[in-house]
Amino acid sequence: MTAKIWKWGPILALFGVLAATVVVGDQMLSVAQFHPAYVTGWLLLGMVVMLALFGVRKQVSFLPVGSAANWLQVHIFVGLLSGIVYIVHSEARVPTGWPELLLAVAYLGTFGSGVLGWGLSRGIPPLLSARGQEVIFERIPLYIRQLRDEVEMLVGEANSAENPLTMLYARELRPFFSRPCHVGWHLLQSQRPRQLLLRRVDSCRNRLDADEAERLDRIADLIFVKDDLDYHYALQGILKLWLFVHLPLTYGLLVFSILHVLLVHAFG
Ligand code: HEM
Repeated sequence: MTAKIWKWGPILALFGVLAATVVVGDQMLSVAQFHPAYVTGWLLLGMVVMLALFGVRKQVSFLPVGSAANWLQVHIFVGLLSGIVYIVHSEARVPTGWPELLLAVAYLGTFGSGVLGWGLSRGIPPLLSARGQEVIFERIPLYIRQLRDEVEMLVGEANSAENPLTMLYARELRPFFSRPCHVGWHLLQSQRPRQLLLRRVDSCRNRLDADEAERLDRIADLIFVKDDLDYHYALQGILKLWLFVHLPLTYGLLVFSILHVLLVHAFG
């Protein structure tokens, strides 16, 4: 706890001082009859350009320009501070013209997706290591195919369309073992679909002979393995997906910011 205070205390204090400087500076410029929106506007644009440069830094990771971890810390700090500058600059008003509206949507979307992604990238890794084995996202479909082959082999031994195991496979197991499933439920940390499936699997047990019941036990084990793979697919997928929102919004933000500057200087 003390270590955390030592680590975060100075950072929070610096954030507070800079945020207060922006708010008080804006007021002082107003009193001095100097249009403060020009100052906060250029400041915000500078911060947005700096934040966007993080993407460039990630592409040229071989250059000796500081570690990725330090860049990320600075990125989050400047990103959050830009929120204060944005509120001061826009006076927290809903924009009226469409260029300003697009700019506001792009900024708020980039900011919001950044905060969300930050939360996800901190929250998801511990959840993943608590469930199943570490697995590479791109290999998940291959592992699912291997599981399906094993289930098909177990069911195939029943060898009759009327057999409860064959029917169970056709109705419940084939869809489950064919692709990643229940992404939404996994994101909600719910095990409901797995429990339902296991209940259905169990309900056909009393119609099986001893050998088939043994195979059913193995199938139930494979359902757990597949469910863990689905869980990793859902959570790793969302970790990848949010950057596909954050990055395009950044490009949009840069374009609309330039348009905004041109309009303000042409008609302001
Ligand atoms: C509002 C202006 C912002 C802009 C223009 C911006 C821009 C960017 C860019 C260009 C990247 C690199 C994406 C890539 O190439 O993979 C990035 C990544 C990231 N941003 Fe932002 N960002 C902003 C705000 C924020 C905020 C407010 C936060 C969090 C508080 C944040 C958190 C992150 C995180 C966690 C990453 C990913 C780091 C990684 O996994 O490598 N961003 N951002």
